[in-house]
Amino acid sequence: MSQVTQAPLGRPPVALAPTQPVSLNINGEAHTLQIAPWTTLLDALREYLDLTGTKKGCDHGQCGACTVLVDGKRVNSCLSLAVMHEDSHIQTIEGLGTEDKLSPLQQAFIDHDAFQCGYCTPGQICSAQGLINEGKAKTEAQVRELMSGNVCRCGAYSNILSAVMEVLNNEGLIIEDKGWSAGATKPDMAPVEPPKK
Ligand code: FES
Ligand code: FES
Repeated sequence: MSQVTQAPLGRPPVALAPTQPVSLNINGEAHTLQIAPWTTLLDALREYLDLTGTKKGCDHGQCGACTVLVDGKRVNSCLSLAVMHEDSHIQTIEGLGTEDKLSPLQQAFIDHDAFQCGYCTPGQICSAQGLINEGKAKTEAQVRELMSGNVCRCGAYSNILSAVMEVLNNEGLIIEDKGWSAGATKPDMAPVEPPKK
């Protein structure tokens, strides 16, 4: 059943701001928000629906922390107005898996220790899910390139890459194996034997 949310949670309604009803389908649930037409999708999620898994990093389209899926495609929610998505299916990190049944990417991020502070992680996982949906990344280099919009300030990139590559490989989407998995020894990193005397 659709719920009407009229003000940012925990705050009084914004005085004098012209608002309009906006209907959104988020993680399979219908919501109607009474919001100003310039409300970003990110603010609608965080401030009106308490879906704070989606993070606000730069708020300028530079970091990818706010990545969500709109009809399966990656979108920086800080750069997109909520009112533009009335006919869309929006998926956030809260909708990818459950505590009892994590999505393959969520599980892989845990298995590969692919985060430190975790602030970028929801965006990384949503972006990786979008990458899988696109089906364009076939090599490690392409994964690096196509995930480059998601910044990790902790520098957990190598483990993030391992997690994403594992899922892509399990889905049969990778055509090139460069020894990406955690603990694998890359050919160019093999230990050099000391010269014999
Ligand atoms: S918060 Fe949207 S790209 Fe940084
Ligand atoms: S894990 Fe801290 S920003 Fe990525």
